[in-house]
Amino acid sequence: MITMRDVAKKAGVSVATVSRIMNGKGKAGTETIARVNQVIEELNYKPNAIAKSLSERKSNLIALLVPTLSNPFFPELVREIEMEANRQGYRIFLCNSDDDRDKVEYYLNSMIDHYVSGAIINSLHVGKKDLDSLEERGIRTITIDRANFEHPYSNIIVDHQFGGQIAVSHLMNKKNRKKIVFISGPKHEKSSQDRLAGFYSALEKLEEKTETKIVYSDFSVDDGYEAIKRLLKQSETFDSIFSSNDAMAIGAMRACYEYGLKIPEDVSIVGYDNIQMASFVQPPLSTVDQHKQDIGAKAVDELIRLLNDEQAKPKQYRLKPVLIPRRTS
Ligand code: RIB
Repeated sequence: MITMRDVAKKAGVSVATVSRIMNGKGKAGTETIARVNQVIEELNYKPNAIAKSLSERKSNLIALLVPTLSNPFFPELVREIEMEANRQGYRIFLCNSDDDRDKVEYYLNSMIDHYVSGAIINSLHVGKKDLDSLEERGIRTITIDRANFEHPYSNIIVDHQFGGQIAVSHLMNKKNRKKIVFISGPKHEKSSQDRLAGFYSALEKLEEKTETKIVYSDFSVDDGYEAIKRLLKQSETFDSIFSSNDAMAIGAMRACYEYGLKIPEDVSIVGYDNIQMASFVQPPLSTVDQHKQDIGAKAVDELIRLLNDEQAKPKQYRLKPVLIPRRTS
């Protein structure tokens, strides 16, 4: 493999001169620059990215920490972030924490070892101290989605209370609703708490009182299925379901079918996330879209803004979700 040292030797200059010329930094005579560039071409020298990172103690790597990859929302979000990062000349160092604090710590250390330039953090198992330690090492850090806790760094959040409210108002449009079930994500998650708050604020606006039932699940398809199956086994009756994500809504649809309930005739359903699968299930699932593409683009833009200007001040961004009505409601 041709190294920078081979180029320097053949061009009759030091390795430092070759490095300066390649990075466009520092002074070098036009003749020297021409000679070095000619030798680079002759030897077909390709700089080694890791070596570059080591020498500059920086890389074009952006770390992206996500809580899981088994929920379809996250791979779709990762893809949006990766596409935007690649478009702007960066690569993604993907870290899946599986909601496990030990894995979070492993990946936080790996980010430092790999000289990542910046980090996009999406996990509830991260605290302000973790963000501080990344920033102290010169790794500019922003948070998105679940990492919605108090900290002084940039963050991009979605107004999930508004999202819950538009979902339930839409469900309540159909006259004489008797009972609505809310399938919540994990109780401790702020995104679940905000959607539940939106659920209640929509119900308060109704003239007639509607009975409610809250069930907690873990954002997965099979747990959404089990949660509704348990209710049906207990002979609970309901005619509407608002699910805190599409995965659990798809599981709930399966449970309703198994008990002979027709959708939307017997039970109307609205999910959340607008994952690709939502428009393919039968009937297509009504949902709330939280703009994965915007979250991805804004996250990368904001991080690069901070990377390009050390004095840049952190910023908070708040996105408003939109309702996507389809045949389940
Ligand atoms: O479906 C997974 C959920 O967890 C999404 O709604 C997203 O907000 C994430 O936090």
